[in-house]
Amino acid sequence: TRVYVRGLGGERPAVPVAPERLQAAAQAKLGAADFAYIAGGAGAERTMRANLAAFERVRLLPRRLSGSRERDLGVEVLGHTLAAPLLLAPIGVLEAAHPEADLAVARAAAAENVPFIFSSQASVPMEVCAAAMGDSPRWFQLYWGTDDEVTRSFVRRAEACGAQAIVLTLDTTLLGWRPRDLDLGSLPFLRGRGIAQYLSDPVFRSRLTVPDAGPLPAPTVQPPRTPALLRAGAELAAKGRKFGLSLEQMQAAAARFTATYTRPDLGWDDVSRLRQWTDLPILLKGILHPDDAREAVRRGVNGLIVSNHGGRQIDGEIGALDALPGVVVAAGDLPVLLDSGVRTGSDVAKALALGARAVLLGRPYAYGLAIAGEAGVREVIQNVLAEFDLTLGLMGVRAARDLGPQHLASSTHP
Ligand code: FNR
Repeated sequence: TRVYVRGLGGERPAVPVAPERLQAAAQAKLGAADFAYIAGGAGAERTMRANLAAFERVRLLPRRLSGSRERDLGVEVLGHTLAAPLLLAPIGVLEAAHPEADLAVARAAAAENVPFIFSSQASVPMEVCAAAMGDSPRWFQLYWGTDDEVTRSFVRRAEACGAQAIVLTLDTTLLGWRPRDLDLGSLPFLRGRGIAQYLSDPVFRSRLTVPDAGPLPAPTVQPPRTPALLRAGAELAAKGRKFGLSLEQMQAAAARFTATYTRPDLGWDDVSRLRQWTDLPILLKGILHPDDAREAVRRGVNGLIVSNHGGRQIDGEIGALDALPGVVVAAGDLPVLLDSGVRTGSDVAKALALGARAVLLGRPYAYGLAIAGEAGVREVIQNVLAEFDLTLGLMGVRAARDLGPQHLASSTHP
């Protein structure tokens, strides 16, 4: 009701409620390359569509005359009670959406009491976001590159800034094939975007000069000095000033990041090593195959996130919601979370009915950020949770944790 009254009271909503209009409003606000980076997917974007189609296909089956005045949205995840089964997914390069980037999201998440998963490719160092969040829950998402000492340093920093869990993303050991970005010639990292965790990392910074040999050698092939490259250089220099690095060091940092941030041969033994490095709960993000879920159980991780990275990595892979039931069975007692395609409160109900403990929201909050900064992110969260609460109420479900297969039309899911 609060969300309805907000509109009636003449308070203008900051962001459109309907997912398509939310995306359109963000598109209107952003430059073509920034919008493409956020909205785009891999290849022909078949998987991006499959994510939405899977939510289309599954149908809820409500009960009547068993509703309650108040619903309990809380769920248990890794020994913590979340106020609602919703977290903000790690999204890199949020400065493409808004200059306040991760910091605005951190404040919004704290205000709405929804955990924020800091990205390895954030635009604001994790310590800065953590300081803005008080005691509100935050997790850290790890990309494991080729420099183990940097990876370890990220884990130590996450522990120090109060992260409740480490999310190791498995689906981006190589960057996906993204035609929208390729056509626009936009790779944000080359302008120093999305590398704040690295620029603020003592181990990474220590790599930027070679003892006795001075700064890293300049690239041997000099690109032509086009206006776009000059703009990129200016952005790089400005960023360097923020992090106390010269333009040459920034160029070295961007080059080193690009050369080291992914590791195509990451393997299960690395998961076991991470297990040795930290006592924090570990979740593996990007699990789709039940056999991977079983191996994860053997490796002693604490949770799984079914995800295809919002359809940004392999074109043609399975829709995330379609993969969920198989992973839930294979995961045994491990909590399974889901992202990729969650757009509405009704979607949250479907994912939970299919066995997810909670869901991660991706692009919609980035669109809210693009449109109205912190206030926009807050409204996107409020809208999803208001619809989720309403859906439970109308379905005769008293508590989010009671959702199960009995709330689905059996012909619409495996
Ligand atoms: C992402 N995602 C992502 N995941 C991750 O583990 N680390 C990251 O840095 C990023 N960066 C990122 C940037 C952008 C622009 C997008 C859209 C996504 C994936 C993200 O965590 C999540 O899996 C998807 O966004 C979920 O899909 P939807 O909700 O966007 O469809």
